[in-house]
Amino acid sequence: MCGIFGYINYLVEKDRKYILDTLVNGLARLEYRGYDSAGLAVDGDKKKQVFAYKEVGKVAKLRALIDQEQPDMTKVFDNHCGIAHTRWATHGPPSRKNCHPHRSDPNWEFAVVHNGIITNYKELKELLSGKGFKFETETDTEAIAKLAKYIYDEHPTIDFTTLTKAVIKELQGAFGLLLKSVHFPGEVVAARKGSPLVVGVRTEKKMKVDFVDVEYAENEAALPAEQASHNVALRSNNNLLAPPDKSNLLHRSQSRAFLSDDGVPQPTEFFLSSDPSAIVEHTKKVLYLEDDDIAHIHEGQLNIHRLSKMDGTSNVRAIQTIEIELQEIMKGRFDHFMQKEIFEQPESIVNAMRGRLNVEEKTVTLGGLRQYISTIRRCRRLIFIACGTSYHSCMAVRGCFEELTDIPISVELASDFLDRQAPVFRDDTCVFVSQSGETADSLMALRYCLERGALTVGIVNVVGSSISLMTHCGVHINAGPEIGVASTKAYTSQFVCMVMFALSLSEDRASKTQRRLEIMEGLGKVSEQFKEILKMDQDVKKLCERFKDQKSMLLLGRGAQHATALEGALKIKEISYLHCEAVMSGELKHGVLALVDGQLPIVMILTRDDIFTKSLNAYQQVISRGGRPIVICNTGDKEFPGEKTDKIEVPHTVDILQGLYNVIPLQLMSYWLAINAGADVDNPRNLAKSVTVE
Ligand code: F6R
Repeated sequence: MCGIFGYINYLVEKDRKYILDTLVNGLARLEYRGYDSAGLAVDGDKKKQVFAYKEVGKVAKLRALIDQEQPDMTKVFDNHCGIAHTRWATHGPPSRKNCHPHRSDPNWEFAVVHNGIITNYKELKELLSGKGFKFETETDTEAIAKLAKYIYDEHPTIDFTTLTKAVIKELQGAFGLLLKSVHFPGEVVAARKGSPLVVGVRTEKKMKVDFVDVEYAENEAALPAEQASHNVALRSNNNLLAPPDKSNLLHRSQSRAFLSDDGVPQPTEFFLSSDPSAIVEHTKKVLYLEDDDIAHIHEGQLNIHRLSKMDGTSNVRAIQTIEIELQEIMKGRFDHFMQKEIFEQPESIVNAMRGRLNVEEKTVTLGGLRQYISTIRRCRRLIFIACGTSYHSCMAVRGCFEELTDIPISVELASDFLDRQAPVFRDDTCVFVSQSGETADSLMALRYCLERGALTVGIVNVVGSSISLMTHCGVHINAGPEIGVASTKAYTSQFVCMVMFALSLSEDRASKTQRRLEIMEGLGKVSEQFKEILKMDQDVKKLCERFKDQKSMLLLGRGAQHATALEGALKIKEISYLHCEAVMSGELKHGVLALVDGQLPIVMILTRDDIFTKSLNAYQQVISRGGRPIVICNTGDKEFPGEKTDKIEVPHTVDILQGLYNVIPLQLMSYWLAINAGADVDNPRNLAKSVTVE
């Protein structure tokens, strides 16, 4: 749940001001990943000197601290590496001391920024303390920097990659990290295992090929068995590490990546980030690192090494051109990213369907699933696994899958699924739904299902994310970057992509032809209808004034609209801090009705579907207890006389899709309730966008 940013220039003269601005701006773009403290490390005025700046709070405070410290901004570097970090505390509370970068020693011989968790840090700390290292922080990360120094001191002729491999081999857990050292000026090593890292490249020179394909030596030798046991033996002797003699390292595969057409390094700048949104303003050429990759940037070259044997993943890392435009990650005319993202939905929903749904020809083509669709049709169960909002989108489409495919469906919260160690079989298909593609609980559940031989499908927004790389097949929802911590457009795009998935699965079912056509036609109208619904923004804002100073609220829905209620209640809780409980309407009379009186704010979802009359019972129960609910109903519904009830009217659509329309007023409501409460809409307290811890 942290953001990492690094900047390296080679044969390109940059003054310190440029370097610091680049790092701080990179962090500001990553702030949504965590924002309790921020820090960076750059070269000092003298050789082997490091300037580090750390501050608690948002990136703006780090910027202010640097201004206050007044380093010489005019000093020019033609080869320099700076590393930076925005933190979301996991080990040790937010404080300057615990803020990254972390150092090996007071001279900053090694500096590290890290995203993830090192699970064996206590063991490392104990070992290194025994070797005389003084730990200064409560973090797990500090052990990495100290371990690097320990190895370096033991083997001062070691190169940076070999050293990093030796360090990483000792780490357990998940990480994306950058290492910088006074012993390797102008170089950086980036490594990932479970946390994302992207490298952006900017160079003036025209490339012979469209940048590089980084190849690995084929048939990399596996770690010799005796070497593996040797390490364990050393460890049990309270020692660390295999000797860093190269023959003892895991692999010696040397990748090659010449960033010029003749193999000669050229003036080049590299940007390293947890997320391409921080890179896109500098360059659109990026390379996504994969787990166990170690990228070494040195003299304008990017070399990628492997920590482990290739395990079926691609042995080519191509530089890709990313499509994101900077304006896509800026707020534009909106006050908040969340608001912008709510209003982007007429467009994001089209992007989810573009090239996939052809309403005229009544076809759905999901390229990422094509090879697997017939296997999925024959599966024993479809298990949807996700967290938070992504879980709600799965709940919202459960009925659609059941109706169209007749395959038994279960929808699981990733954490609970793992806690139960739920049975999974080879003939199950497990669908992982995630905006970020990095949520730790979902990733662990994915590994669990892969180990049990199930077919895995990813429904993911972030291209190149861990879930999208690790699943057998999948669908990118193409919602574009979602920056507001509260998920909005990802929910509706996940919903639509999963409906298209169900449509693909049922393509061979003649009995469903008419129903499928009806749904496809409905999908074709969503974007235009979204525009209509969004016009009620100011009306919703007005309605929310009624809820000022309230502490609690109920949201009622039945059938598929229970998922809508769950999603609406989560949005309201997370950004306005108003306690809001979603209740299945049929359950009202079994207890919750006791809460209902003339004061309690209640929103009821009462759009027309097969169970509408049952939903009405709950409405009657609320009215007869003196409640004055706000009703989300279909446009022009006469069932709810205006004088008694405040209404939010949404267009009617096929029942399977109605939840898409009903959720938008709830998103708007959560936004205005948060504004009324004076809350920080995009950065709600205690929450971060990407939850990369268990
Ligand atoms: C709520 C929200 C979270 C996420 C959850 C899963 O607005 O954003 O509940 O939905 O943390 O995240 P992803 O979808 O990235 O796996």
